[in-house]
Amino acid sequence: MPRSYTPLRYPGGKGKLAPFMKELFRHNDLCDGTYVEAYAGGSSIALTLLLEGYAWEVVINDIDDLIYAFWKSVLDDTETISRKIQDTPVTMEAWYEQKQIHLHPEQYTMTDVGFATFFLNRTNRSGILQAGVIGGKNQDGPFKLDARFNKRDMLERIRLIAKYKNRIRLFNQDAGELIKTVTPSLPAKCLMYFDPPYFNKGKSLYKNYYSPSDHAHIATLIRALSHPWIVTYDNVPEIKKLYTGEAYAEYDISYSAHISRIRGAEVMFYHNLELPSAPYTRSLRASACSANAVEGLLNQAKSMAVSEDKSISQLLKETPEKRLKDETNFKSAKRRQLALLKQGFDLGTKGQMTATRETLHERG
Ligand SMILES: C[S@@+](CC[C@H](N)C(=O)[O-])C[C@H]1O[C@@H](n2cnc3c(N)ncnc32)[C@H](O)[C@@H]1O
Repeated sequence: MPRSYTPLRYPGGKGKLAPFMKELFRHNDLCDGTYVEAYAGGSSIALTLLLEGYAWEVVINDIDDLIYAFWKSVLDDTETISRKIQDTPVTMEAWYEQKQIHLHPEQYTMTDVGFATFFLNRTNRSGILQAGVIGGKNQDGPFKLDARFNKRDMLERIRLIAKYKNRIRLFNQDAGELIKTVTPSLPAKCLMYFDPPYFNKGKSLYKNYYSPSDHAHIATLIRALSHPWIVTYDNVPEIKKLYTGEAYAEYDISYSAHISRIRGAEVMFYHNLELPSAPYTRSLRASACSANAVEGLLNQAKSMAVSEDKSISQLLKETPEKRLKDETNFKSAKRRQLALLKQGFDLGTKGQMTATRETLHERG
């Protein structure tokens, strides 16, 4: 299971596609470019690409004000939301309070709303904001509402994300609007990813679902883009019709995003991109695995560089320089001490011992 960086649980979250997206970045020479996630939700892919050094910058967007409030608080009010996570007891009483905030968000601060989103996302079934609480209101189920609320892990994730805030552009727009807002500023090295609400299940999972004409409208806007783009959907004829003529691959996300030519439950359409040695085979995954140890070290170096506000190359250059400096300092300190010993000290006794070993010992 690849590491997850997002603090949000997301029904239909695409975290499992992250290894594939990393390969896609490498294969299409997109590393250090910009990654745009127009229906970000939990932003799992965006965070993986950014924190593991594939994308230099990410654009995340979600039309849902409650989701936006969470990301906004993480990026712009990290300390307050972290303190709330640390100090709020995970009880039914707190759950009712957060529910109240979501019912009247206009009466609260952005960070109150962002925290309520986080709290309900972690304590509700499947992370669905409108769903019931884990364990039921009487808390008599096998799991209690705090089953998914590991405060330490969540706080670590939030702090790590906040370190990268200068490289995260956050929007709260309709995906179609976002296309107009960001495309003029995108570098040539970029990937736009669209994960619209599903054609079939969308209505049951999300507050903001799409009607057939919404699907058609966004398809027209996406297909007019010249930048590299990728769209994922449930594999249904209605959607395939909207993307007729575009390259596509079918896959099954429940099998770790195994992209294959056999019919899968999901489909991806793509443009201006080459899929990494499709089908996404075992050998591809093996090569990514063997690179994991190096990747882990590199990630730590990247985190360190971000927290010290340095580039990776500055950091790497510093290591041999620091070792050399330490070594030189040690050698000259040793030389000084040996010279002092050789020279000796004037203790004012004119070379005569005036006290015995025993009396000196007593004085100490
Ligand atoms: C399928 S989820 C995205 C999940 C995301 N890819 C992940 O891995 O967590 C769909 C998200 O799109 C958002 N959304 C729905 N309609 C939208 C629209 N018109 N513009 C932008 N975002 C929208 C929803 O609020 C929801 O968070």
